[in-house]
Amino acid sequence: MDLGWGNPKAGKWATNVGLITSDGPNGPNIMAAEWTFYLSYSPAIISVHIGGSENGKATAENIMKTKEFGVSLAASDQNVISSIAGGSSGREVDKIAMLKEMGIELYKGKKINALMVKGAATNAECHLLQAQQIGDHVMLMGEVMEIDSDATKEPLVYSGNKYYHLGEQAYKPAPDVLEKIAALKIKYTKKK
Ligand SMILES: Cc1cc2nc3c(=O)[nH]c(=O)nc-3n(C[C@H](O)[C@H](O)[C@H](O)COP(=O)(O)O)c2cc1C
Repeated sequence: MDLGWGNPKAGKWATNVGLITSDGPNGPNIMAAEWTFYLSYSPAIISVHIGGSENGKATAENIMKTKEFGVSLAASDQNVISSIAGGSSGREVDKIAMLKEMGIELYKGKKINALMVKGAATNAECHLLQAQQIGDHVMLMGEVMEIDSDATKEPLVYSGNKYYHLGEQAYKPAPDVLEKIAALKIKYTKKK
């Protein structure tokens, strides 16, 4: 079936916002990508899913040419950066200059040429491993070459086109429920 962009039935996911940085034919650039995931820890591989094709968005084209990208995972106080990064294309707008003028600091990656965003919850520098077209998005998989995580920062949450802060912690089931789950696990353990 074809859901199409903006279908509310596809809007129940809650994700992070990856600020995807790159430098290539479109110059230094940044885009927002809610579809930013870990695919593997050993080795550490992160995927970024970009609408269109390898040559579609400025970010995809930059990454395909240079085989590297940065993932600055937006912190809870970085929704403005996300809105700038996701609000126009690096083909038409110098979003890095916009950010700098807004007082947002960036630094040069240690293992890649792209800029990274200061104050992000996590900053991962990746080398492109593989690109795969999946339906209307291209999945760019990158091996993490350098990573920094700020223990004091919480990630920005995105769901249904809205930003959220992490809320109240949902506690694990009460001890009596946990006991019941353990008993059921024994009852329904498959016999070999
Ligand atoms: C919060 C947020 C999340 C987004 N997530 C994605 C995403 O996962 N994949 C995607 O292709 N575009 C996503 N976008 C849209 C891109 O950021 C947007 O198309 C951007 O203009 C692309 O920039 P570029 O052409 O400079 O690469 C998102 C936008 C926002 C604001």
